Amino acid sequence: MKTYLVTGGAGFIGSNFIHYMLNKYNDVRIINVDKLTYAGNLENLSSIKENKNYQFIHADICDKRCMDKIFKENNIDYLVNFAAESHVDRSIQNPEIFIETNVKGTVNLLNIAKENWETGENTYKENHKFLQVSTDEVYGSLDDTGYFTENTPLCPHSPYSASKAGADMIVKAYFDTFKLPINITRCSNNYGPYQFPEKLIPLIINNILKHRQIPVYGDGMNIRDWLYVEDHCKAIDSVIKNGKLGEVYNVGGHNERTNIDIVRTIINYIKENVDDTVNENLIKYVADRKGHDRRYGIDPQKIQSELAWHPETPFEVGIIKTIKWYLDNKNWMENVTSGKYQEYYNKMYGDKTCTRSQ
Ligand code: NAD
Ligand code: TYD
Repeated sequence: MKTYLVTGGAGFIGSNFIHYMLNKYNDVRIINVDKLTYAGNLENLSSIKENKNYQFIHADICDKRCMDKIFKENNIDYLVNFAAESHVDRSIQNPEIFIETNVKGTVNLLNIAKENWETGENTYKENHKFLQVSTDEVYGSLDDTGYFTENTPLCPHSPYSASKAGADMIVKAYFDTFKLPINITRCSNNYGPYQFPEKLIPLIINNILKHRQIPVYGDGMNIRDWLYVEDHCKAIDSVIKNGKLGEVYNVGGHNERTNIDIVRTIINYIKENVDDTVNENLIKYVADRKGHDRRYGIDPQKIQSELAWHPETPFEVGIIKTIKWYLDNKNWMENVTSGKYQEYYNKMYGDKTCTRSQ
């Protein structure tokens, strides 16, 4: 039985990862530590809350005492750090919390993993690993050609991507300096179920269903490289198991699309299958995002050749699955956007941290 400490497991990718792991393995125990910010919803995990291999602890990754207690009380084999402030637009409005959680929170986790796993100077319990879930945004922006490889210099532009780049460099420094067993994954944009509707794809779906305008930043020609979330979860699973210590792995499936193409794809699907009154009049070009990265494109060669990882869900399939999921889960969408879950968690946990519950 291996014990995974998953931080930020109530968010989009973290909750998909927990479902993926508990479906795939009977011999893993998952402890999900989440602060339940606006982006964290235990509803994402309601179907597994009775699973004996799963436990939730309400806590902040910046809380030294609490994170140390969790490590001491549980025999943690792997730490998978998803916890982060993750939205670029919010980082432009309020950068400080991004530094707090994404940088200082990661340093806190590194120190606690190091203290609890070390057996001597620069030696650690065997088969333990700290996996930092990072992003392709740390590399900055591409022109029309070329791809991000693991050797592309870091050149972040937003406070979000700068905070992730800062964390990555510290994670790597703990390997170089202390030999702490780490890996870093840098994935492209994810889409799928449970994504908070401030991000492009669920925002488009939500707005269309409500016949609200869809804000398209700038000329709509910025390019993102989209990957179905389950393919990212599979990549993380294989990096934890087989990734070479100290290495970075880029994750992506060569699926580059302009934003306006994504918007049109979703409008057309909903028009043809759900509501024929919907049309492209909903598109509204608005002022561009400050410092807006033009193009992201991942070269996934390293993870493909070293770890035999390949994306399994083509975009044409994944986007329909995703739209259908949001159509089938309108209550979820209502509750996350209205803050209803948030009110409930505030009542349940208040200021209490380090609280175990289902
Ligand atoms: P998300 O915003 O949906 O979820 C973040 C989770 O972290 C939430 O549950 C939130 O409550 C929790 N959290 C925030 N601050 C915390 C703190 N101080 N202590 C404990 N928990 C805290 O984000 P996501 O899209 O699931 O992204 C997860 C990770 O993957 C992030 O590190 C992000 O940088 C990275 N990533 C995301 C994408 C993407 O397309 N969404 C792509 C590549 C990498
Ligand atoms: P987003 O989902 O915020 O992801 P990221 O900025 O981390 O890549 O945005 C994806 C792209 O969509 C990005 O180029 C910004 C653009 N965008 C819009 O045009 N309108 C919107 O309302 C949002 C949220 C994003």
